[in-house]
Amino acid sequence: MLMVVDQAVGASHGGAVRASLGPDRVAGVVEITAEEPLKRMSTVERIWQACLQVGLDRSGAIIAVGGGLTGDVAGFAAASFMRGVDVVQIPTTLLSMVDASIGGKTGINVPLPGSDRLGKNLAGAFWAPKLVLVDPETLETLPRRELRSGLAECVKHGVIADRGLLALIGSHAELLAQGDRAAIDTLLPRSIEVKRAIVQADEHERGSRMLLNLGHTFAHAIEPITDLDLTHGEAVAIGMCAAAWCAEGCGLCSIEDCESLTRTLSSLGLPTSMPRAEPIDALCDAMRYDKKATGDRLRLVLPTRDAAVVRDDVPPGAVREAWQRVMPEG
Ligand code: GLY
Repeated sequence: MLMVVDQAVGASHGGAVRASLGPDRVAGVVEITAEEPLKRMSTVERIWQACLQVGLDRSGAIIAVGGGLTGDVAGFAAASFMRGVDVVQIPTTLLSMVDASIGGKTGINVPLPGSDRLGKNLAGAFWAPKLVLVDPETLETLPRRELRSGLAECVKHGVIADRGLLALIGSHAELLAQGDRAAIDTLLPRSIEVKRAIVQADEHERGSRMLLNLGHTFAHAIEPITDLDLTHGEAVAIGMCAAAWCAEGCGLCSIEDCESLTRTLSSLGLPTSMPRAEPIDALCDAMRYDKKATGDRLRLVLPTRDAAVVRDDVPPGAVREAWQRVMPEG
């Protein structure tokens, strides 16, 4: 087995994983730096080379230890090495526990033509993990900002499929944002269950799995702007607010619904507007590279009063207006 570990958690959790697997089971370790600009082909090649160095064959496995980025890159390397070796996901971030590690999406960013921006997750594969091992104790070493980032995905699960979960998050926001273990232990299984049920029903995203992209089409336009310094969950939080305003513009939900979602995200310490104004034309342009787009049409997930819907008929004006709503005032 080859272990691919985020260098930030190698010291704290890598040893425990090795010890649990048994001393001789892990033939090699690749440490990766979990940064979006490095979520690219060169990192995958480094993993493939390590696979070759340790003599991994098709009966081998890659063990991914870390957050969503580590799991995505290691998963993609596993999906493609020798046309596929097993991958085991051991998520150490809340975001990865409730979302990224479940459901087999793997991938890397791709440089956009004629631009210095990266297109998020534009190359990848569905490659279901053999096992996902969630140990909430690993969250104790997770920086608070990363924890809050994961809470954004839990909010997403609440909006699209479990409004009771959304209410629970709203009523425990302070404890959750502080990483209170009892609050997290209540949240984790419920949020994981939303993801599990959706991917079980639609593994290859032909229908209902698209709902999990709530906020992501907007988020993917801002996340690659490196000097905005947004985590994935922060970008998704802003993206969900934009999606809500877009839904309001399309008559799918009310201003009060938008404000309520904004309040919940804000009470978790998540951003609900852009850190600085960005040209809306460029953001709309970047959205076109989203994988959900078909031709010139954007496919957007928009919240409704009690769930969410997928729409590919949103007028460009409503998208622009939504961006305007999440720009900083003044
Ligand atoms: N994170 C979205 C999905 O797994 O479909």
